[in-house]
Amino acid sequence: MRTPTRRVPVPVAATVAGLLVLSLAACGQEALGGSRYKPGKSDGVTVGLAMPTKSSERWIADGENMAERFREAGYATDLQYGDDKVENQVAQIESMITKGVGLLVVAAIDGSALSDVLEQADDAGIPVIAYDRLIMGTGSVDYYASFDNERVGRLQAQYIVDALELGDPAPGGSSRNIELFAGSPDDNNTKYFWNGAMQVLKPYFDSRQLTVRSGQTTLAKAATLRWSGETAQKRMDDVVTRSYGQERIDAVLSPYDGISIGIISALQSAGYGTAAQPLPVVTGQDAELASVKSIIRGEQTQTVFKDTRRLAEQAVQMGDAALTGKKVRVNNTTDYDNGVKTVPSYLLDPVSIDRKNTRLLVDQGYFTEDQLS
Ligand code: GAL
Repeated sequence: MRTPTRRVPVPVAATVAGLLVLSLAACGQEALGGSRYKPGKSDGVTVGLAMPTKSSERWIADGENMAERFREAGYATDLQYGDDKVENQVAQIESMITKGVGLLVVAAIDGSALSDVLEQADDAGIPVIAYDRLIMGTGSVDYYASFDNERVGRLQAQYIVDALELGDPAPGGSSRNIELFAGSPDDNNTKYFWNGAMQVLKPYFDSRQLTVRSGQTTLAKAATLRWSGETAQKRMDDVVTRSYGQERIDAVLSPYDGISIGIISALQSAGYGTAAQPLPVVTGQDAELASVKSIIRGEQTQTVFKDTRRLAEQAVQMGDAALTGKKVRVNNTTDYDNGVKTVPSYLLDPVSIDRKNTRLLVDQGYFTEDQLS
């Protein structure tokens, strides 16, 4: 039997990260999230963890970290991956509800496709935490744990501006070529990453210091269904062939490491990656091992590190507090409106990584020295 007051242990590896969490928490709001759940039935509770896919190492780490932390806090766990198929995820959540889980933590494949199944969770009195990706169009979601998604986009775009040494936006400077990629159109995060990046890049489009020669400048055109690297590779192939003859691509805004890998392959096939024709600046997100190694090799230029251990801890703290009737700590109660309600959120800070600071990932115990060598 678990004791309701038991604290979630801080993982040994997360020393620096832990301090960051604490300092963020110290300046964050203390707020009651307003769970619809009536606490008190916490004995032998199983937590359902519905993750989107195993095709990306981050989601494997997210799921495993959460399962471990929830178990340390005294819960049983049911961890399922949806193989990026909406119907799988819905079926998995339905089965978790039928089996009587006490809490659901969901990283949605399609943020708008879970209303019906979450209504069943609501009817069963099961609190729901949206993990990393907000669940849209339903009142049946209690909390959201994520990173500051708009800031992710701003970090990527600012990196490009700085790397190309564009300075302040001003007409008359030499124009550089950029191509734009966005995430999956059904992932609510996509528009935050995109909007954050566009806040930074738009003045440079207006001043004509940056040009998108393909003309594919809208989110709809730049979107990459299911964040597929293969889809991005095909689009990059096509863009290089159609829009770049003698002209050179100077930068590619990529929202995610898996997409960056596809983009870089297409560019290498088109002859980029030599001393005469170096690769453009290519951004990314998630600090996945393959991309961090690519950064060290001088291929991908940048990524955004979002420590999945800290996010997992956050979700566990929220879930444990909701289940035991404690205050659920949030630090944003205004920005994440899912169309039905503004979901009380806790947002962590993302960190930009390039060749100069990959060391931080070793110092923080995210990767070992050996993994990066
Ligand atoms: C997003 C997430 C990113 C990246 C992407 C593809 O929802 O915020 O960090 O993982 O999915 O998996």
